[in-house]
Amino acid sequence: MNSTIFSLFSLFFLCTHIVSSSPNKIIPRLSPLLGTILRDEAQDTIPASIPAELKTYFYTQTLDHFNYNPESYATFQQRYVVNSKYWGGANTSAPILAYLGAEAPLDGDLTGVGFLTDNAPRLNALVVYIEHRFYGQSVPFGKLEDVLKNDSVRGYFNSAQAIADYAELLLYLKRNLSAQHSPIIVIGGSYGGMLAAWFRLKYPHIALGALSSSGPILYFDGITPQNGYYSIVTKDFKEASESCVETIRESWSQIDELVSKTSGLSILSQKFKTCKELNKSSELKNYLEYIYDVVAQYNHPPTYPVNVLCGGIDGAPKGSDVLSRVFAGVVAYKGNKTCYDTNEYNYPSSTNLGFSWQTCTEIVLPIGRGINETMFPPAPFDLNSFTEDCRRAYGVSPRPHWVTTYYGGHDIKMVLHRFASNIIFSNGLKDPYSSGGVLEDISDSVLAVSTVNGSHCLDILPAKQSDPQWLIMQRKREVEIMEGWINNYNADLLVFKQ
Ligand SMILES: *[C@@H]1O[C@H](CO)[C@@H](O)[C@H](O)[C@H]1NC(C)=O
Ligand SMILES: *[C@@H]1O[C@H](CO)[C@@H](O)[C@H](O)[C@H]1NC(C)=O
Ligand SMILES: *[C@@H]1O[C@H](CO)[C@@H](O)[C@H](O)[C@H]1NC(C)=O
Ligand SMILES: *[C@@H]1O[C@H](CO)[C@@H](O)[C@H](O)[C@H]1NC(C)=O
Ligand SMILES: *[C@@H]1O[C@H](CO)[C@@H](O)[C@H](O)[C@H]1NC(C)=O
Ligand SMILES: *[C@@H]1O[C@H](CO)[C@@H](O)[C@H](O)[C@H]1NC(C)=O
Ligand SMILES: *[C@@H]1O[C@H](CO)[C@@H](O)[C@H](O)[C@H]1NC(C)=O
Repeated sequence: MNSTIFSLFSLFFLCTHIVSSSPNKIIPRLSPLLGTILRDEAQDTIPASIPAELKTYFYTQTLDHFNYNPESYATFQQRYVVNSKYWGGANTSAPILAYLGAEAPLDGDLTGVGFLTDNAPRLNALVVYIEHRFYGQSVPFGKLEDVLKNDSVRGYFNSAQAIADYAELLLYLKRNLSAQHSPIIVIGGSYGGMLAAWFRLKYPHIALGALSSSGPILYFDGITPQNGYYSIVTKDFKEASESCVETIRESWSQIDELVSKTSGLSILSQKFKTCKELNKSSELKNYLEYIYDVVAQYNHPPTYPVNVLCGGIDGAPKGSDVLSRVFAGVVAYKGNKTCYDTNEYNYPSSTNLGFSWQTCTEIVLPIGRGINETMFPPAPFDLNSFTEDCRRAYGVSPRPHWVTTYYGGHDIKMVLHRFASNIIFSNGLKDPYSSGGVLEDISDSVLAVSTVNGSHCLDILPAKQSDPQWLIMQRKREVEIMEGWINNYNADLLVFKQ
């Protein structure tokens, strides 16, 4: 299987950057920690503690919402977590902020996605986080590893079923709380941001509005150029330092050159202090590429990891060769370690496993790059070989046109400007995925809220003392837009419920 393709999509899509150390131990590492120099490795193994006001529940969820076969009626337990501390209560129709889980266990999002709890007091809102089916504790019939091998179960692992879960669960929750008149605003980031936007389009009777943070709903079916992602990575690096980009650009052929020599791999392993002896140059190249992608995607203030990494490259002792400079960049970003694990990003996690399935079936993101288009060596997205890989792994072919068939995406402005309402598409333009985001207003209430220096899902991360003014303003604008929706809703409620 082409591990590059699979791991790229599975690792680089979350709001909170996750590094796992073993298949069953998922350790969420919050994005703001990225870039901390000389980070204590132990930090990575401490799970985020969950505030006491968060209460965990399980909903008996329908396996298959769309068919009426005997097995469709099977159920599984779906995890959701409620914070009612700030809720104004059903009697005042106080709103519900619903976080739609994405391709990871919910645990990291409970503290990692701070937007909901940060703004719940202002909106008197109930907060609920819902886990996506097949992730975390919401896996039907056992362990994900096993279930993904079971072709009569994994077919139910798709976005349409997932948002139907959210619809069913949210209606149940409102009944349970006698909160029929409380409006719901759905919020998600990255893949979850796509789900939030799609949810509003499909279930306007359940969600009053949606905040879709860094959801690249246009990175499908050729709408966005293949190289959108890597073009922005390269642009981010260029804006940090032209010489840094030149060094990286030159490094790939220097790696090849070194490896073509006797004991080249061994020299390369020593030069980059790899924990295991390199077997092929791609092990190192993929690792470096990952790091560059991660720092660009999660180029969060106040550290701005792209600057940190380029600072290492540019700051290497005078006369250092290209590969020593590149290594100095790795050290600046990762810290001074006894060795560097080039497999760090490849260990199986539920995100890796689950999102491989999703990208091999429905969420087909044609991300690639041609010759000399970016600071990376060429790696075009080839649907034929991707399809072959998927067939080998799962026995099924991807359906690259299904997302646009089911949810749309082509001519989005023309299609949605009279149809849709109450969606915020938020993006940070330094986020490589913003290349597939909605960056222009579509109508008076389908709005693009972008920041020039923002990164992946930055707006929905917890507010911090060190936040720059433009980030504070972005979040403020988002909440004000939501307040507008809620005011209109309350006015409608008076008219229609009399
Ligand atoms: C909410 O309204 C219902 C019906 O009007 C009433 O019985 C109940 O006491 C109210 N609850 C609160 C907390 O005000
Ligand atoms: C697949 O999962 C179903 C539901 O749990 C189970 O009945 C069936 O035996 C599984 N099939 C295999 C091949 O494990
Ligand atoms: C819903 O109601 C049931 C039964 O009244 C209760 O046990 C459960 O905790 C409630 N769930 C939530 C999220 O309030
Ligand atoms: C080289 O191959 C061995 C054996 O398959 C493997 O254990 C090791 O991790 C590989 N080295 C790297 C750097 O991936
Ligand atoms: C990295 O650590 C090693 C061993 O502790 C030390 O000798 C070396 O000077 C350190 N390098 C930097 C750049 O701090
Ligand atoms: C790519 O850039 C290199 C170095 O500038 C140049 O030698 C080569 O001809 C370019 N290739 C293409 C296909 O443009
Ligand atoms: C973005 O960051 C750059 C570099 O720090 C700065 O010069 C620029 O003013 C910032 N732009 C905005 C809109 O904040």
